[in-house]
Amino acid sequence: MTPDLFDSIDAARPDEALAEQLADGAVVLRGFALPAQAALLDGLRQVVAQAPLRHMVTPGGFTMSVAMTNCGALGWVSNRRGYRYAPLDPDGTLPWPAMPRDFERLAAEAASRAGFPGFVPDACLVNRYEPGARLALHQDRNERDFDAPIVSVSLGLPAVFLFGGQSRADKAMRVPLVHGDVAVWGGPARLRYHGVMPLKDGEHPLLGRCRINLTFRKAG
Ligand code: SIN
Ligand code: FE2
Repeated sequence: MTPDLFDSIDAARPDEALAEQLADGAVVLRGFALPAQAALLDGLRQVVAQAPLRHMVTPGGFTMSVAMTNCGALGWVSNRRGYRYAPLDPDGTLPWPAMPRDFERLAAEAASRAGFPGFVPDACLVNRYEPGARLALHQDRNERDFDAPIVSVSLGLPAVFLFGGQSRADKAMRVPLVHGDVAVWGGPARLRYHGVMPLKDGEHPLLGRCRINLTFRKAG
């Protein structure tokens, strides 16, 4: 046994049985991020120290209940003028923090397991939900093309993820997501509507009174 076998996420990767299909092209990998959790929390601390979480304003003028920041070459931002990806943090003049290697590696491994090999994310949106925070049903469509999947990592308090259809009116399924779960949707599911129900109060042993979601995308 080589030392790097122990270092690899592969070594402790949960087995196939924990992959749950939501739809054609969409899967939840239960517990997939658990072997990497220490590295993810470490990376998260570094990212938020450089680019603090903030509540952005929607084009309609509402302040989002979810607090956000980004790492990677591009960051998702919203303001009165619209949604877009930007290389600089609009709260300063600096580029977003680099994407930690462990983030990128986990996202690529999850995508590959879900049937999307070769995923190289250039954007990681960090979402922090406190009790009551929610994300309304939406499509991820600010990316340049829709060939790459979306990889979404859940940490902290459990949440109910809404996974809908191709149109807003389609009934959404309710998918419980807990600490360590990774949802991946791409291909025929890439433009499905999705959202998050208001977060229930609780206390997570590692993250306290919040849920953190890391959403990886190939945006540019
Ligand atoms: C998102 O759609 O950007 C985030 C989804 C989530 O928090 O699970
Ligand atoms: Fe989204």
